[in-house]
Amino acid sequence: MEVKTSLLDNMIGVGDMVLLEPLSEDSFIDNLKNRFEHNEIYTYIGSVVISMNPYRHLPIFTPDKVEEYRNRNFYELSPHIYALADEAYRSLRDQDKDQCILITGESGAGKTEASKLVMSYVAAVCGKGQEVNKVKEQLLQSNPVLEAFGNAKTVRNDNSSRFGKYMDIEFDFKGDPLGGVISNYLLEKSRVVKQPRGERNFHVFYQLLSGSSDEALKKLKLHRDFSKYNYLSLDSAAVNGLDDAANFRTVRNAMQIVGFMEDEVQSVLELVAAVLKLGNIEFKPDSRSNGSDESRIKDKNDLKEMCELLGIEQSVLERAFSYRTVEAKSEKVSTTLNVAQAYYARDALAKNLYSRLFSWLVTRINESIKAQGKTRHKVMGVLDIYGFEIFEDNSFEQFIINYCNEKLQQIFIELTLREEQEEYIREGIEWTNIEYFNNAVICDLIENNKNGILAMLDEECLRPGTVTDETFLDKLSTICAEHLHFESRLSKNSKFLTDHTLPHTCFRIQHYAGKVLYRAEGFVDKNNDLLYRDLSQAMYKANHSLIKQLFPEGNPAKVNLKRPPTAGFQFKASVGTLMRNLQTKNPNYIRCIKPNDKKASHIFTDSLVRHQVRYLGLMENVRVRRAGYAFRQPYEPCLERYKMLCKRTWPHWQGPAREGVEVMMSALPVPAEEFSYGRSKIFIRNPRTLFFLEERRRQCLQDLATLIQKIYRGWKCRKHFLLLKKSQIVVSAWYRRYAQQKKYKQIKSATTVVQSYTRGWQARKLLRELKHQKRCVEAVTTISAFWHGTQIRREYRKFFRANAGKKIYDFTIQRIMQKYFLGLKSTLPSMSPIDKSWPARPYLFLGGVHSELRRIFHLWRCKKYRSQFTVEKKAVYEEKLEASEIFKDKKALYPSSVSQPFKGDYLEINKNPKYQKLSIAMEDKVLLADVVNKINRANGKGTARLFLLTKNSVVLADQKTGQVKASVPLPDLASVSVSTQSDGFFALKLKEGSASAVKGDFLLSSEHLIEIITKIHRMGTTAADIDISDEFLVQFKQDKVCVKFIQAVPKNGNSVSCKRKNNRLLEVSVPTTA
Ligand SMILES: Nc1ncnc2c1ncn2[C@@H]1O[C@H](COP(=O)(O)OP(=O)(O)OP(=O)(O)O)[C@@H](O)[C@H]1O
Ligand SMILES: [Mg+2]
Repeated sequence: MEVKTSLLDNMIGVGDMVLLEPLSEDSFIDNLKNRFEHNEIYTYIGSVVISMNPYRHLPIFTPDKVEEYRNRNFYELSPHIYALADEAYRSLRDQDKDQCILITGESGAGKTEASKLVMSYVAAVCGKGQEVNKVKEQLLQSNPVLEAFGNAKTVRNDNSSRFGKYMDIEFDFKGDPLGGVISNYLLEKSRVVKQPRGERNFHVFYQLLSGSSDEALKKLKLHRDFSKYNYLSLDSAAVNGLDDAANFRTVRNAMQIVGFMEDEVQSVLELVAAVLKLGNIEFKPDSRSNGSDESRIKDKNDLKEMCELLGIEQSVLERAFSYRTVEAKSEKVSTTLNVAQAYYARDALAKNLYSRLFSWLVTRINESIKAQGKTRHKVMGVLDIYGFEIFEDNSFEQFIINYCNEKLQQIFIELTLREEQEEYIREGIEWTNIEYFNNAVICDLIENNKNGILAMLDEECLRPGTVTDETFLDKLSTICAEHLHFESRLSKNSKFLTDHTLPHTCFRIQHYAGKVLYRAEGFVDKNNDLLYRDLSQAMYKANHSLIKQLFPEGNPAKVNLKRPPTAGFQFKASVGTLMRNLQTKNPNYIRCIKPNDKKASHIFTDSLVRHQVRYLGLMENVRVRRAGYAFRQPYEPCLERYKMLCKRTWPHWQGPAREGVEVMMSALPVPAEEFSYGRSKIFIRNPRTLFFLEERRRQCLQDLATLIQKIYRGWKCRKHFLLLKKSQIVVSAWYRRYAQQKKYKQIKSATTVVQSYTRGWQARKLLRELKHQKRCVEAVTTISAFWHGTQIRREYRKFFRANAGKKIYDFTIQRIMQKYFLGLKSTLPSMSPIDKSWPARPYLFLGGVHSELRRIFHLWRCKKYRSQFTVEKKAVYEEKLEASEIFKDKKALYPSSVSQPFKGDYLEINKNPKYQKLSIAMEDKVLLADVVNKINRANGKGTARLFLLTKNSVVLADQKTGQVKASVPLPDLASVSVSTQSDGFFALKLKEGSASAVKGDFLLSSEHLIEIITKIHRMGTTAADIDISDEFLVQFKQDKVCVKFIQAVPKNGNSVSCKRKNNRLLEVSVPTTA
């Protein structure tokens, strides 16, 4: 649904001044200020748009904004220039009404910007297409060109238009642009030769010098330096925020788009350069022989260059600056020019050259943008013209400008009133006469053909004799003395004789916008706008097509002795044409206001705005607009907006809108005289009534909003509730289903269990019964079988042997034993005596037999094993066995000896010749021969001795000589002592009283201790006397010495050491075995 908005929504201050209550100048300005401070730069007075210059970029001119305002009613959205442009464009397109947009305001108020905004809006909303876009582009691009040549920096505006511009844009029946026509008014040409302080010449001069390439400048015989040119003021040559070079490129580009040929552009630039050169021509006085004053050109270089540029013969121009020829009928009189006249002539030429160039540019642009085809076009005119000017020093230009504004004001009043009246008639409302100030009387003062100021000025200019500004003022004072809006000191009217604010050289006009004091000086000259014919002829002679065109009066073939029309006359004529043109069109007004003099954003100078409000006649504007009915609105939107104020019209009115409005208004406490019903609109007399309606509407909207909120909340809660309810039902349904399912499953499983138990029970019962039956049957069968058996046996016993049972038993046992032995045979373990395995016992009753057989088998196996041994090997094993019996687990040395074979004769005594003697001396066979250490009792050190063992004795002999040192018969040996450790010490203890015991016992040490002791033991004599202990006594001659074995940490290798501790103690330290 489209939401209808209104200008009245979210208003800051009052969007339409017509609704201002109370209406006064102060409230008017306060409203403007309030809106300006909130960035609302546009305000309406009815259909007139007041535009405040924001002096900064506001984001309200975006394509989105264009879309927002497109095809919307004027009062539907907040005030905007786009609303006006849209309204104008739509009534042009849809109602076939030609439009004009009149933009007025003082310099710097934003007229040119406003005109561009209107044009860009129209360009954006009108049709599209290649051809249409080209036309649009050409129309828009005409602006930069005209601005470069016609705008200048002034103290009031950095881009001040120094000409008036009216542009007709032509559209076809669809509303697509076809082309346009531009009219220009009164270019301020005096600026070409002189600029007020702080101002600049026209932009194009600076742009040309800054933006041209060096080459182009050289071609135009110019220097880049501004200071080289007399016509360019230097004090503000560079303007902040103005990039002349870039602008020059824009202008050249725009000229190209508009359709200028390259040679045309060059000609234009040559003319601009020529004006600059002209300014540099200077004169000096020279006296002629006949005594008359004459001027000479000081430095002819600039003149020469200018002539070269324009293709003029230098001598011709030089002469034109020195002489003036006056033609009267058939006579020609030449007079010389003095220096002042020469300068006057130079400047006049420069001004004319430039202003004609400007007019030519406008004509040339018009040629390009001219609409094709002869069908009637719809026209939208945009007038960007200088506003009312009231300066301290007002001259001819201000007079002309203000005259133009008077005419515009008049047209405004006429058209507004006419429109108002037409609307009343159209709507059938009774017309009440409106009181307002009609400025026709001021227009008459200026333009009256008989005694108007312009007519008198012309008269003075054309009058023979000396004509000065004073004579003109005199004349004015005499003729206009009686006029109510004219004031002068010289007038006979004594009213101003004592008014010292009015100098004698000035006159004052009371314009509709205020009093303006004009200085008469220069009026005559400016009105005459004289250019000596010699100069125009010189220009015509130029070999330059453009300049020739600009000075057609210089053509000697067409000498026209009539004076050219005066500036005032021309202006009056063009203003007249303009007014006639505007009167045929539907006017739309944009009134521009400048908020401050500083070109600054955010500053609102009350006095300045008040001044503008006054001279733009805005209060007058509001009054005229409010004179009858302040507000009017078609019935449909009115009903739409206020229908909530009456129960009968809310929310829908079924009948016609007018009746609805009538019903609604009659229900409201509004006096009947406050409003009137037109044919299509309701007219409201007072803004108060409108605001009353608005206030009621606001209250109603609040109530409605509450109601809507209430209903919405209720609806929302109910919706939520219903959703919850629905969800709850779903949830509970699901839950119930789940619970039932669960319960069912439980019951089902319980049933199954019960069923299975029952079935089980029944089955078991049945089974039991069946089993019972079966057993009964079996029992019966068994009993009957036994019975039969018994019967049969009883019957047959007499036929069987009595001990058959025992035989069967024996047979069975035999069979089992047979099977056992055969089985054992095949599962016997290996023959290795150390194999401990044995097959498992098959029958319990064979337990004893089985283990016995195992023992027997082992013994047999061992026997078999032993039977393989030779005699020697048997002896060795016997010895080893004996050694084991003696030492196993008793002496630490034993384990190491197990693997060593008992060699016996380590010295190979029979073979070694060294021991031959000794071997012979031995009576018996040597069982063991080895080297042993005999331990010395004194120091515990050992001495090597040969140790020999025979069947009967032990012999100790010298190792070197083999001489027998001692021989002990074995029967003399009482016992042998050894330690429990891993040492090789042993003591041979002799029987007391034996022959050998004289020398005492022997304490010896040998590596083959185990073998020696075993072998001695085998001799059978001392077998019971082997003493194994770590402490024993040894008899040395008379003394008994104790030999003690201790364990010690090995030192210096792993050897056993024996030390004498005292007389009775020898300590043997044996390395600890790991
Ligand atoms: N709508 C706007 N938004 C932003 N800046 C603006 C706007 N209107 C005007 N201005 C600023 O104000 C300056 C003066 O505006 P503009 O040239 O339109 O004034 P003018 O009324 O045409 O003056 P003149 O009579 O001297 O030609 C502009 O150069 C621009 O900087
Ligand atoms: Mg302007």
